[in-house]
Amino acid sequence: MSFSESLQLHQKDAGPPLFDAKVVMPSAANIARAAECLLAGQLIGLPTETVYGLAARGDDGAAVDRIFVAKKRPRNNPLILHVADFTDAFALFDSDSSAELRRRAERLGVFWPGPLTLVGSRHPSILDEVTAGNDTVAVRVPNHPVALALLRRLAEIAGRVIPLAAPSANVSNYVSPTTAAHVIEGLGDEVALILDGGPCNVGVESTIVWLPDDSSPVRVLRAGVISPEQISIALGEEVELVISTAKPNDTVTAPGQFAKHYSPRTTLYLLENSNDQSPLTANSRVLRIVFGPVGPESNADVWSFNLDGRLETAATELYATLRRADQAGYDAIEIVGCANTGIGVAIMDRLRRAAIT
Ligand code: TXA
Ligand code: MG
Repeated sequence: MSFSESLQLHQKDAGPPLFDAKVVMPSAANIARAAECLLAGQLIGLPTETVYGLAARGDDGAAVDRIFVAKKRPRNNPLILHVADFTDAFALFDSDSSAELRRRAERLGVFWPGPLTLVGSRHPSILDEVTAGNDTVAVRVPNHPVALALLRRLAEIAGRVIPLAAPSANVSNYVSPTTAAHVIEGLGDEVALILDGGPCNVGVESTIVWLPDDSSPVRVLRAGVISPEQISIALGEEVELVISTAKPNDTVTAPGQFAKHYSPRTTLYLLENSNDQSPLTANSRVLRIVFGPVGPESNADVWSFNLDGRLETAATELYATLRRADQAGYDAIEIVGCANTGIGVAIMDRLRRAAIT
């Protein structure tokens, strides 16, 4: 056997490569390269503080369309536009939008850059491909140095603001990505490159808040680390929590979230109490994942999202743990839920959707 044949054999045995040439360090040169790819209409993997995004320039219908094709995303599910600051964000709303919308957006602007998405009446220049034909647009300023540097570089090269359309960088309905390797796993063939910004520190997607055009109540459409209470305090008024549960084939009158989402391929059971068990036969291999420390009686088939007991840690580790669990070859995964308070609300929302079959 020649040396190169034996090397090939060795590489086959070694499983997937640890390094992928598409994953690049976020140097100034690579950020400029990512900007050029985006301007040419290509997709890139973008680190944010919540999850990695699959980004395309948001002002080019053909580029935005590639996101839907790559993710196999239903075209009735609109995208979030990402920009570098409040001024750029507000410019994406209808310039005739009410003083009420502006007043509320300014108050909530204290959370930017950060894990908050605001939905409001769209500026006429926003593409239908982005909003799925709705008359509102979703906007966010991500709190990640690499995302912000890229947005600024793009504007410098183009001589104007280029918002980035970016859903989570996973194939539709699968678990969201919190590392560059997760993006490679699902969408490696679809991206020109991935800027490696390290693991995301928040770990669950942004809180989505809808600002109406009039004085009717503000609505929280998706739970995230920024809680409805924090939104309510910043606004100085009550807010409504309206978490939608549309099914993929439903006619969606108002955009929002589909019920099944964030799902590993392995069947997942969400249990109410630690004494509960999933409805499985005795000889199936079941992985149990809990919150907080694992008891002394437990074995290798019991994992924890957060040995330190902090729900912030559980949020950061949530998707990576689900992905690892999915690859471990169990017949089923059972998860004992966490407290439905604070960031636990967002965690339980994701787990409930992951558990829908
Ligand atoms: O943290 C995040 O928000 C991440 C990072 C990459 O920024 N992005 C993200 O995007 O989670 P995606 O596409 O996976 O989820 C966006 C959600 C979808 O449920 C979509 O229906 C909703 O935002 N959405 C987008 N535009 C909307 C609109 N105009 N009205 C209501 N919901 C909207
Ligand atoms: Mg998503």
